[in-house]
Amino acid sequence: MSPGAVFDLKAYLNEKRLLVDAGLEACLPESNGLTSDLIRAMRYSLFAGGKRLRPILCMAGAEAVGGNGTDVLPVACALELIHTYSLIHDDLPVMDDDDLRRGKPTNHKVFGDPIALLAGDGLLTEAFSLMTSPEIMERVPPRTLVQAIRLIARAAGHQGMVGGQAVDIQWEGKSADQKVVRFMHTHKTGAMIAASVASGAILAGAGEARRRSILSYGEKIGLAFQISDDILDIEGDSETMGKQAGADEKKGKMTYPAVLGLDESRRIEEELVQGAIEELRAFDVRAEPLRSIAQYIIKRKK
Ligand code: IPE
Ligand code: IPE
Ligand code: MG
Ligand code: MG
Ligand code: MG
Repeated sequence: MSPGAVFDLKAYLNEKRLLVDAGLEACLPESNGLTSDLIRAMRYSLFAGGKRLRPILCMAGAEAVGGNGTDVLPVACALELIHTYSLIHDDLPVMDDDDLRRGKPTNHKVFGDPIALLAGDGLLTEAFSLMTSPEIMERVPPRTLVQAIRLIARAAGHQGMVGGQAVDIQWEGKSADQKVVRFMHTHKTGAMIAASVASGAILAGAGEARRRSILSYGEKIGLAFQISDDILDIEGDSETMGKQAGADEKKGKMTYPAVLGLDESRRIEEELVQGAIEELRAFDVRAEPLRSIAQYIIKRKK
């Protein structure tokens, strides 16, 4: 992109989404063996039409520090595998008990709870296989790759997403304060988003200072993303979002609007986005996708 040109986020997201879809197709082809139902269930949720935000952030993180987005594609795709697993499990009757996801019946509604559970497990573990595939090993020094994988593993596990999900479930129907809901959101959603963009920067060989800035950017947009998800649950349209609106209040979920009100939630997400963009002040035009994505996160309708 030349300096001064207006950045076209829509075209950027479309272009990257196609790359991700092709990468995912290659890592999980259809199968007609004994596990064909399991593979079908994994593919059902994977190709149901997600925004691919996490893989795109990984590629944009690599580009922001001067790297090539396509070089990190296996790790980018792995992030989408982990994310899709988290959605399948999040929707299960023992969790949020939702019927609609990505515009289609949820995984367990189609394949039943046991296969949905296993489809999630299969996607999670496949991610780690993909992150150690020969394709990425050829492009990234082993030490650097291990650092990125470790960051992602921690963001997905009890110190990140799984920890946040546990708090989310345990605080259902209770009355939380801002501290609790902030912990919940930074963990269940913020951690994986931050790890997505930071892993891209790490894989592209960023130094310590730039890694830190990108990680802070990711933490801020990650929290803003979940606040905007909470707001969309109140104000959004089910058909546009591809998931049921109004579900949080019904379940007594502790959300930003529930704890702080809609106006204050909007003010906080706006402040987080400005703060995220500010983290990138020392970056050049190659960070334009990240700046633009930060703004998109609180403007989106799905
Ligand atoms: C939904 O994530 C789950 C949350 C963390 C709020 P996305 O809104 O990124 O869902 P997809 O991937 O586009 O379906
Ligand atoms: C889920 O948060 C975050 C995950 C780790 C999957 P939500 O439960 O609010 O996500 P949606 O609204 O079902 O997509
Ligand atoms: Mg949930
Ligand atoms: Mg949910
Ligand atoms: Mg939600």
